[in-house]
Amino acid sequence: METQIAVEFLDQKIPETGTLVLLAAGKKNWGASLKKLDKQSGGQISNAVAASSFEGTKSDTIEIMAPANLTLSRLIIVGLGEESLEEAANWMKVGGRICGLVKSDPTGLVSVLVENMGKDFAVTPDDIAAIATGFLMKRYEFKLYKTKGKSVDKKGRIKTLALACHEPKKVTKAYRSLDALRSGVFMARDLVNEPGNILGPVEFALRVRELEELGVKVTILDETEMAVKGMNALLAVGQGSERESRLAIMQWSGSEKPKDKPLAIVGKGVTFDTGGISIKPAGGMEDMKGDMGGAACVTGLMQTLALRKAKANVIGVIGLTENMPDGKAQRPGDVVTSMSGQTIEVINTDAEGRLVLADALTFTIDTYKPRLVIDLATLTGAILVALGKEYAGLFSNNDRLAGRLVKAGQKSGEKLWRMPLGKKYDKLIDSQIADMKNTGGRLAGSTTAAQFLQRYVGETPWAHLDIAGTAMGSPKSDINSSWGSGFGVQLLNEFIAQNYE
Ligand code: BES
Ligand code: MN
Ligand code: ZN
Repeated sequence: METQIAVEFLDQKIPETGTLVLLAAGKKNWGASLKKLDKQSGGQISNAVAASSFEGTKSDTIEIMAPANLTLSRLIIVGLGEESLEEAANWMKVGGRICGLVKSDPTGLVSVLVENMGKDFAVTPDDIAAIATGFLMKRYEFKLYKTKGKSVDKKGRIKTLALACHEPKKVTKAYRSLDALRSGVFMARDLVNEPGNILGPVEFALRVRELEELGVKVTILDETEMAVKGMNALLAVGQGSERESRLAIMQWSGSEKPKDKPLAIVGKGVTFDTGGISIKPAGGMEDMKGDMGGAACVTGLMQTLALRKAKANVIGVIGLTENMPDGKAQRPGDVVTSMSGQTIEVINTDAEGRLVLADALTFTIDTYKPRLVIDLATLTGAILVALGKEYAGLFSNNDRLAGRLVKAGQKSGEKLWRMPLGKKYDKLIDSQIADMKNTGGRLAGSTTAAQFLQRYVGETPWAHLDIAGTAMGSPKSDINSSWGSGFGVQLLNEFIAQNYE
């Protein structure tokens, strides 16, 4: 859902209409404009502050309707706390908080005045651009299937977000790249929020095709082409569905050295997961429309990279299929031969994500010989038990890669927690009649799933992100109010920008 709010960056001047937001870094650091407005209003602002408990700390806000002697409809002061916010992600949160405070305005204009707040509190053009981005991120709504608009849509809908700041040209430049990020996040959220009847594997692949307009090379494999390549594990998952499976490949070649080995990002795209013959209980099954959160992230990321013309070579590969039970569905106990040649005993048809990823990983590594591969998947309920919605699980065969990802997680606000892998866990998925089975029993469910994937990556530096807790189910945050979060786009965009451009 594209944003309908125009963003403007004005030179440092105080807007005179609409809602005006001012920032206060603690008690002492109040900018010159705040003091000036206070004077103009005959001390109304300082009186209001004195009458409240406002101290300019992080969660403090004060709101004054129709301030005296000013033509504004409302004045809001938002506290930032006294410590410098450092990362752009923290400034995005400020934008998100402002969005939460300003639902509407009679003029449709919201302005944020960003000024110098003392030498310990530097604000860069990136920070200012991040405020605008955070505002829009928080405002995102998936309204495609709402036929009755709310009255605020007509009366007080916010049409313009203006940031009054120093060096608006530099801010505009910084904003371009952040807006590319926002657009990719929205793309991922849209895909996750779409219901399963609308977005099946074929429809998803068509959305991927649209990236061609941005200069991404797109290749879509159909079932026959996948069968020729021997992708029987992925195909077995889709066997019980009326809908055909697809493998979508997105290539962005932005590196200054075109021959640079690419980074590969692989996503699980189960557009609906009933569990198959090992069917899931009814309660909450509707959430399984979001079982393509990994694929959505890969697609959103490729959009961001193309929009901001990232100087890196990146391949995105997503396995798209629907897990349904019917007469043609795979059975528990079936044995399938994956593209790698390794055989799998399917103990539980609900452990389908690893079957999809096994072939997607083999295909990616064999075809593109990437310098590293990262997969994202809503893979296990067990990761929710372990980490909740706070962190995604990180599994890796490479400490350097894992370290870089954790760091990008801290910086972007999409946090990762590293989980263990090891020989003893790997043994749990040995099968009596095949090379491996697709479940490892009740214990360490997220790790045995990751061990399964590790059998498909060989020596390639690899990381697996289990995003079952963070991609969907309204993981509420300062910059998201939507069911689908778009998790991973900010993280991987940061990871690529920091290390490979
Ligand atoms: N898609 C689910 C995992 C999931 C659960 C994602 C909750 C988001 C929220 C996955 O395919 C699945 O069903 N995993 C099983 C594995 C088990 C059968 C070994 C699980 O976690 O129960
Ligand atoms: Mn499943
Ligand atoms: Zn699943």
